[in-house]
Amino acid sequence: MTMMDQLTHRGLAQLATKYGGLLHLQMGSLHVVAVSTPEMAREVLQVQDGIFSNRPANVAIAYLTYDRADMAFADYGPFWRQMRKICVIKLFSRRRAESWASVREEVDLTVRTVMKKTGVPVNIGELVFSLTRNITYRAAFGSFSHDGQDEFVEIMQEFSKLFGAFNLADFIPWLGWIHANEFNRRLARARESLDEFIDTIIDDHLAKKRGNTEGKLDGVEVESDMVDELMAFYSEEDASATKKYVDDSQSGFKINRDHIKALIMDIMFGGTETVASAIEWAMSELMKSPEDLKKVQQELSDKVGLTRFVHESDLENLTYLKICIKETLRLHPPIPLLLHETAEDSVVSGYRIPAKSRVMINAYAIGRDPSSWEDPDTFKPSRFLNDGAPDFKGNDFKYIPFGSGRRSCPGMQLGLYALELSVANLLHCFNWVLPDGMKPSELDMEDMFGLTAPRVIRLVAVPSYRLTFPLKV
Ligand code: HEM
Repeated sequence: MTMMDQLTHRGLAQLATKYGGLLHLQMGSLHVVAVSTPEMAREVLQVQDGIFSNRPANVAIAYLTYDRADMAFADYGPFWRQMRKICVIKLFSRRRAESWASVREEVDLTVRTVMKKTGVPVNIGELVFSLTRNITYRAAFGSFSHDGQDEFVEIMQEFSKLFGAFNLADFIPWLGWIHANEFNRRLARARESLDEFIDTIIDDHLAKKRGNTEGKLDGVEVESDMVDELMAFYSEEDASATKKYVDDSQSGFKINRDHIKALIMDIMFGGTETVASAIEWAMSELMKSPEDLKKVQQELSDKVGLTRFVHESDLENLTYLKICIKETLRLHPPIPLLLHETAEDSVVSGYRIPAKSRVMINAYAIGRDPSSWEDPDTFKPSRFLNDGAPDFKGNDFKYIPFGSGRRSCPGMQLGLYALELSVANLLHCFNWVLPDGMKPSELDMEDMFGLTAPRVIRLVAVPSYRLTFPLKV
C-alpha cells in the first residue's frame, strides 16, 4: 500500500526496468499485474485475449455506470458485444455524417475564437478541452442543446473525481465501512444529477420521435444525434434482462434509460479528454521542435494553399502532419494504462495469474521501450516514414495508443479525424510563438497521472493570422 504513488505509467515503467515486462503486485486482497513490453502485451491482448478482455470496476465505477450497463466497463460477453455493435455501426461509423459534421463545425468555431485573440496569449489547453467537449456534446445531444452544457460539465467532473477516488473497500473489503456513508452519499448525489439531466433529454427525444416520421418533423428534415440513434433500441419496459441477452440478432436487443445514460458517459469520457490531450501534446511537441513545425506548415501551404481552411479531403495529402501526430501518440498515449481484468486463471510466460486479477497494460512504457525504438524519448516523426513502421490498428504491439484486439478503441476513426483536423487548422490558420520570449527548449513537458495523461502546465502561445483571405468573426 505504501507503493501507491509509484503505480502511475511512469512509476510502473521504472519498476519494469528493474523487474521485467510482467510484474505482480498485491494490494490488499487485490492482485495487480503490470504489462510493460510488446511481447507481454501480445501475450495478453492477442494470444490469450479471451481471458484478458474483462474490465475491472471498483465500487464507484459499478455504481456510476448503473451496474456496468455501459460498454466500456461491461465484462466481455454477449451484452458487451451488442453494445459495441451499436456503437461501431450506429454511433462512431463514418457513415454517421452528423458526428463528422460536429467536428468540422466546432473546429471552424474554434478558429474564429482564436482569430479574436491574435496578438495575445491563448491558453491552448483550455481552448482544446472546450473544443472537444463541444464536439462530443453536440454529437451526443444534437446541435441545439449547448444550453445545459455547463451543468453537464460539472456532473462529468464529479464523476471523474469519484471514479478515481481512493476507496478502502476496493482493496480491503472488510474495512469498507470506514467513510462508507459519506462516500455513498456522494455517489448517490452524482448519479441523481445525471438522472435528472439525461432523463429530460430522453423525454425530449421521445417527444421528437413521436412527432417525427421518416426523419422529418412537421415536414422539415431533422438532424439525428446519438441519443436519437439509441432511441431506436429503447424500450420503456425494464430492459435489465437484456444484460444477459445471448441472441446475436440486433433487432431483438433492447436498452433502457440506464443503458443510454451509461453509454453517453462512456462517449463523453472516451471522446473528450483523450482527443484534447492529444491535440495539446501535438501542439506542444511542435512548438518545442521548430524544424518539424516549419515542415508541417510548409506542407499545409503547398497542399492546401493560404486561401482557405483545411478540409477533410486534404488530410490524406498531409503526410508530415500525420507522422507528427503518430509520433505524439507514441510519446504521449492519451490513455497511458489500459485497464483489463482476467476472467479465469491463466499462465503467462510461466507465471500463474489468478482469475479477477487487475491487469494494467502500460502503453506509455511500450511506446518508449528502448529495444523497440531508437532514441525512444526524442520526438522524431520521420521514424514513421520507414518501411514497416506501425500503423494505429494495434497489429504491432510496440505501438498501441488505441489498444489492440477486442477492447481496442471503437472511436478511433472519429478521434483521429478530430485530432488531425484540429491540429491542421490551428497550424494552418495561425503562426504561434511562446509568450514572454520563452525559448522552445524551455517548454515544460511534464504530464499528469489519471485516466488520461494531459500536460501539468497548460500550453500557452500567442497566435498571429497566417492566411491571405480576410476571416469574418
Ligand atoms: C485520440 C483519441 C483516442 C485515443 C488515443 C483512444 C484510446 C483508447 C484506448 C487506449 C482504449 C482502451 C483499449 C483497451 O482497453 O485495450 C479506448 C477505449 C474506448 N474508447 Fe477511445 N480513444 C480515443 C478517442 C475516442 C473517441 C473519440 C471515442 C468516442 C466518441 C472513444 C470511445 C472509447 C470507448 C467507448 C472505449 C471502450 C471500449 C470497450 O471497452 O470495448 N475513444 N480508447
